[in-house]
Amino acid sequence: MSSNKYGLDLGSDTIKVYIRSTGAVIKEKNLIAKKRKDIVALGDDADFLMGKVSDNISISCPLRKGVIADLSSVGTIMTHALKKAGCSKKLLSPNVFYLAVPSAITEVEKRAFHSIISESGFNSKNSKIVERPIAEAIGLGIDFKESKGTLIADLGAETTEVSVISMGGIMISRLIPYGSNDINRTIMEVLRTKDHLRIGFRSAEEIKLSFLNQHKEDEDIITYGIDLLKGIPRKAYIDHNLVDRQIQFVIKRINDEINKIIDGIPAEMYSVIRTNGIHLTGGLSASPYIASLIEKGTGIKALTKESPELVSINGLSKIIEDKSLSSMAFTISESEFE
Ligand SMILES: Nc1ncnc2c1ncn2[C@@H]1O[C@H](COP(=O)(O)OP(=O)(O)OP(=O)(O)O)[C@@H](O)[C@H]1O
Ligand SMILES: [Mg+2]
Repeated sequence: MSSNKYGLDLGSDTIKVYIRSTGAVIKEKNLIAKKRKDIVALGDDADFLMGKVSDNISISCPLRKGVIADLSSVGTIMTHALKKAGCSKKLLSPNVFYLAVPSAITEVEKRAFHSIISESGFNSKNSKIVERPIAEAIGLGIDFKESKGTLIADLGAETTEVSVISMGGIMISRLIPYGSNDINRTIMEVLRTKDHLRIGFRSAEEIKLSFLNQHKEDEDIITYGIDLLKGIPRKAYIDHNLVDRQIQFVIKRINDEINKIIDGIPAEMYSVIRTNGIHLTGGLSASPYIASLIEKGTGIKALTKESPELVSINGLSKIIEDKSLSSMAFTISESEFE
């Protein structure tokens, strides 16, 4: 009996699923909306509720800085996304999942990711784990088995995963706890403390994306929030410089961490990386301005990709399709943890 194969990248912002039978990739927000313990909405439906519901409905992501914070909610959202991808729980229809996980987490944390699949109720035997930096190198089309030094920075929503790959293996990988969502949080914080304005996370996301993608420096960005002094809704005009400062603040922290990693690599490898450039992936790197800040902060040319948030799922799809890459995916056997 042939099995159905799926690639899975559980991002803190978006879950990406590759469906082998159709070759399609679907995206679903990694959010769960709850009223006390009851689930109100999942995925994109929970995202739609953001900023539209009262405080007694909490909307959150069950991953925290790249690792699982709430196992049962991760399982619930993943099941939801897989059902949307057409994945079946029927016994006669076995599934094999290829799950991308951060490299720089403990074996126990990797096992937690694996256990979501094995306990999901989808008839899934022999599911596999792929270290995300390897999936990304393959997704970028890098000849990573021959590479003498490839630096990849995955600029995600909650984390930045920075990895150096050499001769087919991961030499260093670090999960930096800063990402695109931190820009939203600093925007919210500065408006609250300096402007006495409370805005929602979704409004901060809109302000950030408006700054990064619309480049209308001469026009303020309009937003709506609650005036904390008067307790009433207020329309506000946000200056571009204010947004720029928050972006630079977060990217500087990311650059500082990248530079610490670069400082520790052998000189020969560093010179290869300097020549090749730093490969940027992850949704935040869709902005050329962000790429320019990384370039300035690290002194290394930044290479960007279209649809950068899909690099890792595209790598998983290549691993699923190309037998010569099958050794890049491995099973976590129970015995490894005994
Ligand atoms: N055009 C754009 N310019 C800048 N940022 C963008 C753009 N489009 C999306 N983003 C940001 O990309 C982020 C999502 O990227 P991505 O899908 O790589 O994250 P993730 O994989 O879900 O998160 P993580 O890897 O941290 O778990 C969002 O926070 C969003 O704000
Ligand atoms: Mg990601």
